[in-house]
Amino acid sequence: MNAPFSHYQESADYISSRLGGFLPRVAMVLGSGLGFLGDLVEKPVVLPYGDIPHFKASTAPGHAGRLVCGLLGGQPVAVMQGRIHHYEGYSLQEVSYAVRVLKLVGCSQLILTNAAGCINRDWSSGEIMLITDHIKFFLDSPLRGENLPQFGTRFPDMTRVYSPALQRVARQSAQELGLPLRQGVYCYFPGPQFETPAEIRAARALGADAAGMSTVPEAITAAHAGMETLGLTLLSNMAAGILDQPLSGEEVNATAEKSRETFSQLLLRCLEKM
Ligand code: HPA
Repeated sequence: MNAPFSHYQESADYISSRLGGFLPRVAMVLGSGLGFLGDLVEKPVVLPYGDIPHFKASTAPGHAGRLVCGLLGGQPVAVMQGRIHHYEGYSLQEVSYAVRVLKLVGCSQLILTNAAGCINRDWSSGEIMLITDHIKFFLDSPLRGENLPQFGTRFPDMTRVYSPALQRVARQSAQELGLPLRQGVYCYFPGPQFETPAEIRAARALGADAAGMSTVPEAITAAHAGMETLGLTLLSNMAAGILDQPLSGEEVNATAEKSRETFSQLLLRCLEKM
């Protein structure tokens, strides 16, 4: 069952009431192994998801499950420390519920981060990719069901899901920091199983550079609601079938851990410029 508009409004009213006039402008969703960024927020107001009406709990390992509002990179932010995924048993609409709520709270921009498998054979794990576009072939959409015109139109355009202006910000930030930044297409797979080598070959043939189990539902919902999105991917492992070794959640977390310094530097520089 899709949530009525009143639920979004109730969630947003609760958050606003706890912020005492503070207005976040940039919403952020922190992916696997990147949750520590929420701990860098200054003057934080921390709201556990369980306290926010209609919010769902995050069950994935390494996802704390709280909203942290405050200043990061000099910007008023609302950071989702821990995201919820479709593979946890939630609908795509539940997965992206918070994006709409944060739009109502006042956020006009959204930063989505994730860890994903690297499909592009010319790149390596540990590198960071700026998402320029995505592929989502699987059934269902976070926008399926009754359209809520308070957020957007029935058939929203997806030509510029990832804001060209924010892509420029990311490229410039990486350049200033002397960090290599890959750019490419993120292909959504629902998980929780990793892809087969044949699925990865198919995705590569279709133009994908990375494979992951998140981000796209939130990005579609944000585009529908007219928010500007920046997507940054940590390529945490080579995708299935590229190396002669099995994939594991441990490898994903170990790479995220190793890359956290670089990733957070880039993210903070982007925030300063937004
Ligand atoms: N595939 C899908 N999702 C992922 C991967 C992967 O290889 N690595 C991290 N998240």
